[in-house]
Amino acid sequence: MSLPLDFNKITLHPLAADCPLEGFSCGEPGIDDWVRKKALPRHNAFKARVTAAHDDSGRLLGLYSLTLILERERDLRSSEGLRAFIQFGHIPTLHFEYLAVRQSIQNGGLGSYLTLDAICHFADMAERTGIPILTLQPLTKRLATYYGERNFVPYGSSGRMMMSAETAIRLRDDG
Ligand SMILES: CC(C)(COP(=O)(O)OP(=O)(O)OC[C@H]1O[C@@H](n2cnc3c(N)ncnc32)[C@H](O)[C@@H]1OP(=O)(O)O)[C@@H](O)C(=O)NCCC(=O)NCCS
Repeated sequence: MSLPLDFNKITLHPLAADCPLEGFSCGEPGIDDWVRKKALPRHNAFKARVTAAHDDSGRLLGLYSLTLILERERDLRSSEGLRAFIQFGHIPTLHFEYLAVRQSIQNGGLGSYLTLDAICHFADMAERTGIPILTLQPLTKRLATYYGERNFVPYGSSGRMMMSAETAIRLRDDG
């Protein structure tokens, strides 16, 4: 069993070239491959913005990525409040693209901590720009439950989930 995480010793930073990505594994091969090969180039090109969590020795503990996507209006049709945001059949959304925690420290709360940090970034961005929803695609049913317990709701037929700006602002302000 692993020791409890000391969140006072964990710092979050935008991903940087000196971040040790090589030895990182969350146990999900597709995500590990993305971490090793694509996270930094996409971050540097502003195609995504990646936030990394390190311990006090600089070890990479986890990371998440946010990117902008256009969601088709028909997938959000049942969400009345979103109609005003439709532009040419699409709605801009902030997409919670990847979330990964080092396998040896999973179930210690870091995934929830990083998810709340992403929600807080979205809340700030929504207040400044009016972007209406945060979206994600859970990889499994178990992960859909995980995100449901963290206030994301399903929409459309693709299994995707979303959170409104109002919910994100409330969660940020409740701490
Ligand atoms: C999913 C993940 C980010 C969660 O991070 P974590 O630090 O382990 O999670 P937390 O400690 O904050 O939360 C623990 C909860 O996560 C659940 N959990 C842990 N691993 C999980 C997994 N692979 N799939 C679904 N849920 C998982 C636990 O059952 C626990 O549930 P509970 O809150 O009902 O008790 C982490 O397990 C991970 O990196 N998994 C591999 C990559 C992945 O699947 N990323 C998500 C892509 S959509």
